[in-house]
Amino acid sequence: MKEIILVKLGGSIITDKKIAYLARKSIIRRLAKELKQSKQNIILAHGSGSFGHTSAVKFGGKKGYISKIGIARVARDAMEINRIVMGILITEGIPAVSFRPMGMILTSAGKIEDSFFKSVEEVIKQGLIPVVYGDVIWDKKWKSTIYSGETILNKLAMYLRKKNFNIKRIIQVGQTNGVYDDRKKTIPIITNKTWPNLKKFIFELKTKDVTGGMQHKVEDALKMANLGIETLLINGKTKNELSKALLNKKVKGTLIK
Ligand code: IPE
Repeated sequence: MKEIILVKLGGSIITDKKIAYLARKSIIRRLAKELKQSKQNIILAHGSGSFGHTSAVKFGGKKGYISKIGIARVARDAMEINRIVMGILITEGIPAVSFRPMGMILTSAGKIEDSFFKSVEEVIKQGLIPVVYGDVIWDKKWKSTIYSGETILNKLAMYLRKKNFNIKRIIQVGQTNGVYDDRKKTIPIITNKTWPNLKKFIFELKTKDVTGGMQHKVEDALKMANLGIETLLINGKTKNELSKALLNKKVKGTLIK
C-alpha cells in the first residue's frame, strides 16, 4: 500500500488576504523548498486567498452566481494563483502537475454527482506531485458552487482510500499555530468527543470568505477523522514547521483525530 500525505497551503499564507491579488511569492518559495525535502508521496492543494475570494465576494459562486462574466472571472482568478504556485514549484525542481478541479468534479446542490480522479491516481503512481486548488465547480441545481482546496483534498482522499492507498495525514498550512481558543492559545488536540465543548470557545478571524471559517475547517477534518485520516493544522509563517510536520516531528499546531 502506497503511503500518501496530503498538504494544503491555505490562501491566507500564499496570498495577502487584505490586498487583492497579492501573492506572497517568497513564502510560497520557502514552502516549496520545505516540501522538496520530503521523500513521501504528496498531493498538494492550495487555496485562493485574495485571488478567487476577491472576485467570489463580488460575483458569488458558492450557490450560483450573479453574472456569467462574473463567474468566469472567479474561475480565471482561481487559475491565476495556481499559475503562480505552479511556476514556483517547478522552478524549485518539484515535478508538480496541475489539475483543474472544475474539470474533475460535477455536483448537484453541492454534492458530487460525477468525478474523474483516475488521472490523479496515475500521476501519483508515476511519482509526480498532483496539485489541485480551490475552484468553481459546476452544479446542476445551483449553477455553480465553490469547493475549497481542502474539500477537494478530502474527496481525493476518500477516493484513493477505496483504491487501497494508505492516506495517513492531511497537513493544512495556515497563518496560525493551529486552532486557537478564546484566549488565543493553541488547542493541541481536537477529537469528535472534545469538539462539542471546545466549539464555543474557538477564535475566528474576521475575514470575508465564501468557503471558510475555522469551525467549518475543523468539522470537515472531524469527518475525515471518522475515516481514520487525521488532520494537522500548522503555521506556515514559522520556518520549517512544514518540513517538521512532513517528518512527523513535533510542531506548534492542532491535531484533529
Ligand atoms: C476558495 O478556495 C476558491 C475560490 C474562492 C474560487 P479555498 O477556500 O481553498 O481558499 P482559501 O484557502 O480559503 O483562501
